[in-house]
Amino acid sequence: MCNYIHSFFIFAQKSKMETAKSRRTIRKYKSQDIDADLLNHLLDTACRASTCGNMQLYSIVVTRSQQQKELLSPAHFNQPMVKGAPVVLTFCADFNRFSKWCKQRNAVPGYDNFQSFMNAAMDTLIVVQTFCMLAEEKGLGICYLGTTTYNPQMIIEALNLPELVFPITTVTVGYPDECPNQVDRLPLQAVLHQEGYHDYTVGEIDKLFAYKESLPENKQFVVENKKETLAQVFTDIRYTKKDNELMSANMMEVLKKQGFLK
Ligand SMILES: Cc1cc2nc3c(=O)[nH]c(=O)nc-3n(C[C@H](O)[C@H](O)[C@H](O)COP(=O)(O)O)c2cc1C
Repeated sequence: MCNYIHSFFIFAQKSKMETAKSRRTIRKYKSQDIDADLLNHLLDTACRASTCGNMQLYSIVVTRSQQQKELLSPAHFNQPMVKGAPVVLTFCADFNRFSKWCKQRNAVPGYDNFQSFMNAAMDTLIVVQTFCMLAEEKGLGICYLGTTTYNPQMIIEALNLPELVFPITTVTVGYPDECPNQVDRLPLQAVLHQEGYHDYTVGEIDKLFAYKESLPENKQFVVENKKETLAQVFTDIRYTKKDNELMSANMMEVLKKQGFLK
């Protein structure tokens, strides 16, 4: 019996591994809807993921209506996936529900601080990624929207998020209507450190980024943006110091307003 379970486990692992290895972000979806039972099943299973102290410090807002998508769209800089996907999921760090339970049970919650926000944010991201892997295994395509933390206040208003609830990320989901090429990753040795952190020499950085820099699409990126190097496309255009500082200040404001930085 044990052997049978073990073989089944290995088989199941393999198929999960294959899905993970061949995945890519999907930004174009068929108009086919996602069955509510399937979506709930995936989300329910995702909620089996590890969670800090089993407190489940997250909430998931499901958006299917065109009206709500219209409301959310500007917060995501009108990225077409918001209106183009049958389902938009906003995953939020949530200490509201747990704090309310504490208060109703004669317990004093002490969760209006940064450590608690981090715990809730970690719980949220774990459940999100578990959901994404399960969804991809069922043939669905997903795209994360990092814009969620660029404009958190707009999302808080659109979704009526109360104190101690903060949007961490959004995922658009649907049946794929495209099959883009997989994009590169750094070699494993770039991210792996044995026993302790081994800092990178100039030569190692050159070597580890060489493949990425050699790709025609990345070379094209450099030319199109009139830059000298691919790194400059990141620092000067895609993720600039100015934008990051502005969004950091904004995020701190909204975290205070949501009661996480008392
Ligand atoms: C936290 C996070 C935020 C992201 N935000 C966006 C986004 O706003 N728009 C978008 O088109 N893709 C977004 N993506 C998708 C990434 O661009 C994509 O995962 C990356 O380019 C690697 O491609 P792959 O997932 O196909 O391997 C995001 C991914 C992550 C993990």
